[in-house]
Amino acid sequence: MTRDLSPSVQRDADGRLRHLITLEGLSADELTALLDLAQFYVREAGDLPARDQSLSGHTIANLFFEPSTRTRVSFELAALRLGADVVNLDMQSSSRVKGETVLDTIYTLQAMHADILVMRDAEPGLPAYVAQFVAPHVCILNAGEAHLSHPTQGLLDALTVRQAKGDFAPLRVLIAGDISHSRVARSAWQAFTTLGVAELRIAAPDDLMPGKGEFAGATRFNDIDRAIAGVDVVMALRIQRERMRGAHMPDDASYHRAFGITAERMKKAHPGAIVMHPGPMNRDVEIASEVADGPQSVIQQQVANGVAVRMAVLATIARNVQSRRTFQ
Ligand code: CP
Repeated sequence: MTRDLSPSVQRDADGRLRHLITLEGLSADELTALLDLAQFYVREAGDLPARDQSLSGHTIANLFFEPSTRTRVSFELAALRLGADVVNLDMQSSSRVKGETVLDTIYTLQAMHADILVMRDAEPGLPAYVAQFVAPHVCILNAGEAHLSHPTQGLLDALTVRQAKGDFAPLRVLIAGDISHSRVARSAWQAFTTLGVAELRIAAPDDLMPGKGEFAGATRFNDIDRAIAGVDVVMALRIQRERMRGAHMPDDASYHRAFGITAERMKKAHPGAIVMHPGPMNRDVEIASEVADGPQSVIQQQVANGVAVRMAVLATIARNVQSRRTFQ
């Protein structure tokens, strides 16, 4: 496979976003514009959801080669609420299991006029690889790439923090748990760093801490009780046992005692701190149920923001591609 993994692969010749593969390389202004548009699409619980026809005539294909609830459903709802046609491939019953290559699957969908392809895969580099081969009017959106990148999750996390705290500049943010296997952590680090939080902390047991070449600028902790002291945002991460090969992991109860986000530990954070989790949660492993369901939790708000953020990304990408078609 020939791969261009540089962030420039997601931009067109004029520098506009044509695909969304990573948050790396997006400026604070670009992130803020996406958050502002997402906020425009946010509605109060109980209100009817926002709708417009930004994607009328477009066809979105969801290709999830790994399991998903939140991301897949929210991309589908986002596309439907913007007036697109949507197809969801069941990858277990698709021709991939008969040996069809991912590119042949993509070309097949492209031939049927699917023009925005939403992909999740366990293979690093696949979205960027595919983006090099699709037709000029076709866009690739990364919905979760191995342990590397989950850009729309990073955006929805940033939106949730902005709604709760307003300004990023004074914030101390903690991302805690299985950092080494987490695409959520990497995209959150990119978003929060670009948006200029005061301090980003990452905390993990030694076996789950990534190498020093990653997470530039973050303060590292292997003691959760020290890491959580005084922070404004606590983001707990799922233990990703499906990505572990040979890592030494304690049993669930031992991990919870040593590293879980508990009510007792939350007392060490800033009194107004919020608690986040990307889901799916291992309750009473990386996060105590009483914290996940407690007054400081914004986990359901993250889920709600997922739809708004994906609407913003879809509308922005479609507008950028449409403007190329119009002016060429
Ligand atoms: N946060 C997240 O990506 O959840 P899903 O795996 O359910 O999509």
